[in-house]
Amino acid sequence: MTTENRTRKLVCLTGFMGSGKSTTARILAGQLGWVNTDLDRCITEATHLSIPEIFSRLGEAEFRRIEYEQLARIVAESTATQKPRIVSLGGGTIMQSQNLVLLREVGAALIWLHCPIEELLNRCAHITDRPLFRDETSFRRLYAERLPTYEMSDYKVESRGEPARVVEQILALGIFPGVTA
Ligand code: S3P
Repeated sequence: MTTENRTRKLVCLTGFMGSGKSTTARILAGQLGWVNTDLDRCITEATHLSIPEIFSRLGEAEFRRIEYEQLARIVAESTATQKPRIVSLGGGTIMQSQNLVLLREVGAALIWLHCPIEELLNRCAHITDRPLFRDETSFRRLYAERLPTYEMSDYKVESRGEPARVVEQILALGIFPGVTA
């Protein structure tokens, strides 16, 4: 199988907290008839803990270990079943080099949902389930630190608008079989 064929079977959405990864993935997978997998949800289901509980009780290092474990499980399942799948990653997933290596090895396509920091701040300001959203200064710092890694994605899509418009842009990338740009 060529890398291109494999790429089309596993498509991952990355981007900072609040960029709309989970919602976009759900709509996109629904339109394509693909499997939709939310990495954060896999983590909470596996641990029976919420994301803030994992951070406060077990610490971030343990969260990252579980995140890798779940991503590896998803990738293995995806390879075994060969069912085309959209995966919404966590905002920090590809910051861990082993996760990026794993996704590259199986030829996953990585789509970065890019959103201006001001919009991300608006979206995240009222949400309490993000342990890494402490204050505006650290949020801005983390965003700046992560940008170079997000830029390593295969595709970049603006996610400031409605999720349905974001999905349209993703479908127009021309990477889905049977969907013309
Ligand atoms: C994280 C983002 C969260 C979640 C965890 C860590 C991060 O996911 O995985 O709180 O490191 O940016 P979302 O990007 O879906 O908020």
